[in-house]
Amino acid sequence: MNDTPSPSPSHRTVLITGAGTGIGAALALRLAHAGWTVIIAGRRPEKLEEVAANIRAAGGTVTVVVGDVTMSADVARMVAAAGPSLDLLVHSAGQGHCLTIDELDEQEFRETLNVATVGAFLTAKLALPKLRAGQSGAGHIIQIASLASGGTWNREVGYGTAKGAQAKFALHLTSQMEVDAAAGGRRIHVHAVCPGTVDTPFWDRVPNRPIDRANALTGDEVAWMTEAIINDPAATWETLSAIKPRAEIVIKPHAPFERWSNVIAVAHESHP
Ligand SMILES: NC(=O)c1ccc[n+]([C@@H]2O[C@H](COP(=O)([O-])OP(=O)(O)OC[C@H]3O[C@@H](n4cnc5c(N)ncnc54)[C@H](OP(=O)(O)O)[C@@H]3O)[C@@H](O)[C@H]2O)c1
Repeated sequence: MNDTPSPSPSHRTVLITGAGTGIGAALALRLAHAGWTVIIAGRRPEKLEEVAANIRAAGGTVTVVVGDVTMSADVARMVAAAGPSLDLLVHSAGQGHCLTIDELDEQEFRETLNVATVGAFLTAKLALPKLRAGQSGAGHIIQIASLASGGTWNREVGYGTAKGAQAKFALHLTSQMEVDAAAGGRRIHVHAVCPGTVDTPFWDRVPNRPIDRANALTGDEVAWMTEAIINDPAATWETLSAIKPRAEIVIKPHAPFERWSNVIAVAHESHP
C-alpha cells in the first residue's frame, strides 16, 4: 500500500468539474497557485477560458476541456487530458433549485440528479484507472455535495435528493478505495464537502430564493477547506475549525452522516 506523504504539488495533476465558475473556479486558482497541473471542465467555454487566463497570468499550468459530465464521451476527454496519471478528481459541477414537487418539472429533476450522481459516477469511474496509476503519494476524490444532502426541506425534494445520493456515492467509493488500498493499491482518499449557502452563480438560476450575500460563504472559502483536506486527508472538522480563515465560518460534522469523518459540513454561522 502506498500511503507515504504526498510530494510537492508541482508533480501532481487535478481534474476539476464545474470549474468555469464558483467553487470549482476558486479551487482551480488555488491549486494552480500551489503548483498543481490543473484540468478544468464544464460546458461553457467562455467561463473556462476566463479561469484559464487567470491561472496562466499567475504562471500556472491549465488545460480547458469543454464537456458535459453526464456524457461519458465528454468525461473520457476530460480524463484523457490528464495524461498517463491523475492525483485528484474534484466533482464540483452541479445545479440546484428551490422547488416543491408540484413546482418541479421532470426535466429539471432529471438534470439535477444527472449532474450530481451520473456526473459523480462517470467522472470517478473513468478517472479511477489514472488515479490508480499515479505514483505521487496518495490520490484523492472529492465530491462537492451540500448540506442539502441531509436535509428534508420540501423545496429541496429534487436538489436534496440529488446531493444526498452524491454524498452516499462518496461513502460507497470510500469503502471500495479502502479495500483496494488494503490489497496493495494506491491509497485514494475520498471526501464529501457539504457547504451551506455559498455566494456563487449557482443562485442566478434560483430567482425565487434570493440569498443574503453578507451572510453566506464565498466560493474561495469552500475552496480553502477543500484544499486543506487535500493537503491533510486526515483532517477533521475539529482540526479544520482550528485553522479556518474567519470566525463566521462554521465547520462541523454533517449530522445525518456523523459516523463518517470524511463527510464535512461548512457553512456561515447564520445558516439554519
Ligand atoms: N452555491 C451554493 O450555495 C452551494 C451550496 C452547497 C453546495 N453547492 C454545490 O457546489 C457545487 C458548485 O456549485 P457553485 O456554487 O460553485 O455553483 P456554480 O458557480 O453554478 O458552479 C457549478 C458549475 O457546474 C457546471 N455544470 C453544471 N452542469 C454541468 C454539467 N452537466 N457538466 C459539466 N459542468 C456542469 C456549471 O458550468 P456550465 O454551465 O458551463 O457547465 C458551473 O460552472 C455544486 O455541485 C453545488 O451543488 C453549492
